[in-house]
Amino acid sequence: MKHLLSVDDLGGRTGIERLLDRTEEFLAVTHREIPKIPALVGKVVVSLFYEDSTRTRLSFETAAKRLSADTMTFSVSTSSVKKGESLLDTVQTIEAMGIDAIVVRHQAAGAPRRIVNWTEASVINAGDGRHEHPTQALLDAFTLRRHRQGSLDGAQIAIVGDIVHSRVARSDVKLFAALGANVTLVGPPTLMPESIEGWPVRVSYDLDEVLAETDVVYLLRIQQERIASGRFPSLREYTARWGLTAARAARLKPDVVVMHPGPMNRGVEIANDVADSDVSLVTQQVTNGVAVRMAVLYELLAASGEAN
Ligand code: CP
Repeated sequence: MKHLLSVDDLGGRTGIERLLDRTEEFLAVTHREIPKIPALVGKVVVSLFYEDSTRTRLSFETAAKRLSADTMTFSVSTSSVKKGESLLDTVQTIEAMGIDAIVVRHQAAGAPRRIVNWTEASVINAGDGRHEHPTQALLDAFTLRRHRQGSLDGAQIAIVGDIVHSRVARSDVKLFAALGANVTLVGPPTLMPESIEGWPVRVSYDLDEVLAETDVVYLLRIQQERIASGRFPSLREYTARWGLTAARAARLKPDVVVMHPGPMNRGVEIANDVADSDVSLVTQQVTNGVAVRMAVLYELLAASGEAN
């Protein structure tokens, strides 16, 4: 694997499971007293973020440092993009400094794929528009696999909320299905994609009906700016029908877990009490994200050399 732009690049179930197995090894590294190994000494990893991020950006930078790579950080707000510099010129400028990997977040779907044509470095998609967020899907699958003693086979996963705008949903659906889970998309019809032809999912507009048979409730952030575009009448109505309220959580099966990619709208798609309860895997998702990204960076920058 030279680049990671989509879950499709992971090599199906075999490739995904291999990467998740490697993540277990890196998770053990992160628990050491000195959580650092010299695997990527001399490599340079650049964060190229055109959109805001807390988890993904810090997680990649921490992962790179734990592998002893050098890191460079690019922020639009403090860069020459503000003076009109294009994406192409920005990439070529960074490339000229000598780099090995570019971690890209961009509001335009397909931006990471374009960058592949402009650089010799490995490109990692850290979220592009509504398209994909493959490392989020990997950390979600890794977290669930650990929680379920090593297998997602047969797991009933409900992904709830703003599916139409969600790159996380697109990547999660592919990855969860590849590992044998059954995925149901839940939310208002106005937040569903126009066509889900070819998606390995069921669709429901009734959260209460789905929860009775669900093992994993995966909540998505409601993007509050969508209210203005008339996608749903009010946050209050959204919460009443599709939010994981405390009352709804009390009716879940005993072994159900709740996940969220973050950032959370507490009190909208997830109640405070639920977010902070034992059923929530949100903090574990973040912790595991560092190990997953170590595994991805290692796979792209070191593993091929290992084979030689
Ligand atoms: N889950 C996720 O992508 O979070 P950030 O936007 O904070 O990176």
